[in-house]
Amino acid sequence: MEKTHVAIVGMGTVGTGVARLLLDHGDRLARHAGRVLWLEKSLVRDLSKSRGIDDLPEGILTTDLSEILENPDIQVVAHLVGGIEPARTIMLQLLEAGKDVVTANKALLAQHGSELFDRARELGRTIAFEASVGGGIPIIANITQCFTANQILSLRGILNGTSNYILTQMSEKGAEYADALLNAQQLGYAEADPAMDVDGSDAAQKLAILAHLAFGVQVNWKEIYRRGLEAFTLEDIQYADKLDYRIRLIATAQLIDDNLELHVSPTLIRKGRPLAEVRGAYNAISVVGDAVGDMFFHGQGAGQMPTASAVVADMIDTAAGRTDITFRRLELWSDRQCEIELIPYPRTRGRYYMRFLVADEPGVLSEITGILGKHKISISSIIQHEPKEPTEPRKVPLIIMTHECEEIQASRAHLAIEQLASVDEKSYRLRVSEN
Ligand code: NAP
Ligand code: HSE
Repeated sequence: MEKTHVAIVGMGTVGTGVARLLLDHGDRLARHAGRVLWLEKSLVRDLSKSRGIDDLPEGILTTDLSEILENPDIQVVAHLVGGIEPARTIMLQLLEAGKDVVTANKALLAQHGSELFDRARELGRTIAFEASVGGGIPIIANITQCFTANQILSLRGILNGTSNYILTQMSEKGAEYADALLNAQQLGYAEADPAMDVDGSDAAQKLAILAHLAFGVQVNWKEIYRRGLEAFTLEDIQYADKLDYRIRLIATAQLIDDNLELHVSPTLIRKGRPLAEVRGAYNAISVVGDAVGDMFFHGQGAGQMPTASAVVADMIDTAAGRTDITFRRLELWSDRQCEIELIPYPRTRGRYYMRFLVADEPGVLSEITGILGKHKISISSIIQHEPKEPTEPRKVPLIIMTHECEEIQASRAHLAIEQLASVDEKSYRLRVSEN
């Protein structure tokens, strides 16, 4: 059988998983590719560091990128270095050396997709990136190949495994935030800088990629409104639970009157709905197409082998020539005009959960409901509990659920309520969804 010589750049969590699949399941991969994927070289920074693979053939590891760039036999390279630099420079060097690239680096694509895809096209090379969104879930293949008969109307989902893992550990096992984050890092879910996972940045980068594929918009991920786990506390998780909701970090791309709503927001989702039941490092994406209707994808969104599964599938597609056909036809991140405009975040609509700590005095509730009324926000429910522990002055938590309104109405009302002398400065506001 013919061979396609391949290399791996970056032998961390994902790179090691890719090497394992190539070395341990070569026959299976060859059957699917119609040719052998032959691991020729793996670039590392430190030769003495254990990679956890006992049967790694002698001479495969190198610290010298030129051994990959200058080897004409190597055609396909799995680029599994995170972050922006030197990842960007390495990818350009690989393309210029005539290699087809497979990557899992969403930060790089979300920030430099236009430059990298242009360069690949100019050089007649390809970039495949299934593993960059949703780990093992084949969402990119589905959007770019299986749903091409559709206008996609919305994409909504949980796109960060680390934050979902932390959330479920805290709510179901009573874990402390710091312990849950440390576990996620040890399990190989988190980014090198885990702040990107927990503040909504990683989900925004993935959302920018999906929005480009599904709607053709080129959006700088930094301009996507995003909030992360800092937006709420364990108390909100507990109140949400009592109200029959779970909090999930939801990325939304939704066409409204031909314009696009885009944001990453912690959201109360009604228990029993599919997104509310996604647990641990799993991701899920709900897609609505005008012909296909509702589709739901669920699977491991982070971790070594699920991500390696997507990378190796891309390597097989590239070796078999399939990537070339889709890559050329899609013209991703090209100058193509897009008619769709982004809806400014303050103009998006939703229901809201608000939690305040208020003085337990006559007239406070009417002041607050008066402000909501002034901003034309209708209240759907209010809960005020006795304080858990007596305080001086006496303060009580107040939870308000609203009917649908514009974000700008909700934020103005929230700000006005926070400024009342009877309300503590620290308060919380989250979106609410029945689906
Ligand atoms: P990782 O464990 O930190 O591995 C990255 C590897 O790149 C490390 O082994 C590092 O070397 C190596 N590296 C960094 N700079 C290098 C350089 N200049 N030359 C050679 N090697 C270099 O990260 P990961 O979790 O595997 O993630 C890799 C990429 O996949 C990232 O873009 C990430 O966002 C993406 N991704 C990860 C997951 C996941 O679940 N982990 C899922 C989907 C996508 P050292 O070993 O010497 O430090
Ligand atoms: N750090 C990412 C996550 C890896 O937790 O989802 C998968 O992209």
